[in-house]
Amino acid sequence: MQILDGKIVSQAVKDAVKEKTSLLLAAGKKTPHLAAILVGSDGASETYVASKVKSCEEIGYKSTLIRLDPNIEESVLIEAIEKLNADVDVDGILVQLPLPKQISEEKIINLIHPDKDVDGFHPMSAGKMVQGLPTFLPATPYGIMMMLEHYKVETKGKHAVVIGRSNIVGRPISILLNRNTYPGNCTVTVCHSHTPNLKDICLQADIIVAALGRPGFLTADMVKENAVVVDVGITRVADASKKSGFAIKGDVDYANVAPKCSFITPVPGGVGLMTIAALMMNTYNACVAKNK
Ligand code: GUN
Repeated sequence: MQILDGKIVSQAVKDAVKEKTSLLLAAGKKTPHLAAILVGSDGASETYVASKVKSCEEIGYKSTLIRLDPNIEESVLIEAIEKLNADVDVDGILVQLPLPKQISEEKIINLIHPDKDVDGFHPMSAGKMVQGLPTFLPATPYGIMMMLEHYKVETKGKHAVVIGRSNIVGRPISILLNRNTYPGNCTVTVCHSHTPNLKDICLQADIIVAALGRPGFLTADMVKENAVVVDVGITRVADASKKSGFAIKGDVDYANVAPKCSFITPVPGGVGLMTIAALMMNTYNACVAKNK
């Protein structure tokens, strides 16, 4: 069993982006600039946004963090995005999800200029991804692809089972694994909360991507020998033994599933770190495309 180590791969990606960025600056180009908007103070979202800002600093990007009160009207967020869309110095915009109930995520995602859509959530980016055209790929699926590539995991002709169909992970990773490229060329089954016989389907899988957000959901009896398991879950579970009061749990019962796998991602230290590395890559690409 080989661990797909998010620490190693994300560092390699960030080092490569840092190197490319220093070449960019040496050539007299502008510094890549990522603007992040955080509405409210949800603990997990705070952590993710802080990690994104820290990665910008490590790489040498400029970053702007806009914090908005959880009770704001939608119009306040709209105005903030319009300002960032119009700001020529800003290369990438991300609005951390989820948003408070009074704000339409769909409306907000649609408003981000596609040239600055480093999360790859805009329908324009999603449509291009479906057609295999160059675009920003959503960070978590993109990070998973980079991980499979780094470890040279064989994907061609494999049966990949994706559990979850969100716009952020499940649906896009199912499309990327199905593309006629490497990593890709999988036969993909997308499962969700209404899928009967989930266990039987998982037992047929060469590759399983668990992205449903239920800690420990994928158990050893659902996984065949030598499967590749990618765990996208990052749920906070109360744990009095931790200083923070919680532990981060994945969607996979790691202790029992790992011994059966050819490759598996740990949680923490797996896909989560790749999400940030992929975002950094998208921000670099946004800057280069915008400032040719
Ligand atoms: N919430 C959960 N995942 C993500 C992500 O990749 N980007 C943003 N903006 N919000 C998220």
